[in-house]
Amino acid sequence: MLASGILGYTAETMHTIEKNGVGAVVSKSIGVKPRKGYANPTVVQVNGGLINAMGLPNPGIDEYISEIQRAKKVLAVPLIISIYGYSAEEYAEVAEKAAYAGADAVELNVSCPHVKETGSEIGQNPKVLESVVRKVRAVTKVPVFVKVTPNVTDIAEIGEVAEKAGADALTATNTVRAIAINVETKMPILSNRGGGLSGSAAKPIALRCVYDLYERVEVPIVGCGGVTKWQDAVEYLLAGAVAVQIGTAIATEGPAIFREISHGISGYLKRKGYKRVEDIVGLSHRS
Ligand SMILES: Cc1cc2nc3c(=O)[nH]c(=O)nc-3n(C[C@H](O)[C@H](O)[C@H](O)COP(=O)(O)O)c2cc1C
Repeated sequence: MLASGILGYTAETMHTIEKNGVGAVVSKSIGVKPRKGYANPTVVQVNGGLINAMGLPNPGIDEYISEIQRAKKVLAVPLIISIYGYSAEEYAEVAEKAAYAGADAVELNVSCPHVKETGSEIGQNPKVLESVVRKVRAVTKVPVFVKVTPNVTDIAEIGEVAEKAGADALTATNTVRAIAINVETKMPILSNRGGGLSGSAAKPIALRCVYDLYERVEVPIVGCGGVTKWQDAVEYLLAGAVAVQIGTAIATEGPAIFREISHGISGYLKRKGYKRVEDIVGLSHRS
């Protein structure tokens, strides 16, 4: 799947990605009201990845409805709309409108590490998380994915809370809290100072989250973080994910990465004598 925030904004870019063999597309996170996001610089390259603090720029759901409708006309794969809010009511409002506009599923971004009073502030607080998931569950019939943050002490506890509250699937994970400092100016590089780390450097952290979640939840897990080659995707499957999302590697490898990784997984399954992806999900947990 295409991860949220990377090219998943207009119907055209989603369609381009689809032609490269994705199984599903996740949109940029959308809120109730338009948001400008932060001033540049919002992204910095570091060893093994990127640190970003975009600040959730988006046009707001009312404006975005027509884009969802346009995307639904051109896409054959499922369209998952990513949502953020400042309260359970806001998440529910956006989810309801997105589903009405044609979203096949919603992904609750309760894990953005760089915007105050939303994102990880919700995903780190079991009580608030529970109310957000319950409210969204109550207003829509489409599948609800909950995208969790790795910036917690016990990810499995958070996963259990989301599952109990009605999540149909978990996406693990969003970016890891990080910072980069310019030694000449002696100041943080990003305008927001702190941001979230993505790419290869984040993979072992997100992979461990998937591994720990798989031990404690029943709902499907989607691995996300640093998938750059087919071996990364297979690691996520062995850890317990049923699918993976890819973001940062599109910038370094190009959109052809989706097809290359699918081929790589197929080749691995064949070589190891497995028929389907499902046959290797969670295999690393056996004793
Ligand atoms: C520039 C950029 C923008 C992002 N925007 C969002 C977003 O709007 N919503 C969200 O849930 N995640 C967002 N993410 C996080 C990604 O969806 C993903 O969880 C993270 O980058 C880890 O995957 P990757 O290593 O394959 O990029 C963003 C990541 C980047 C690099």
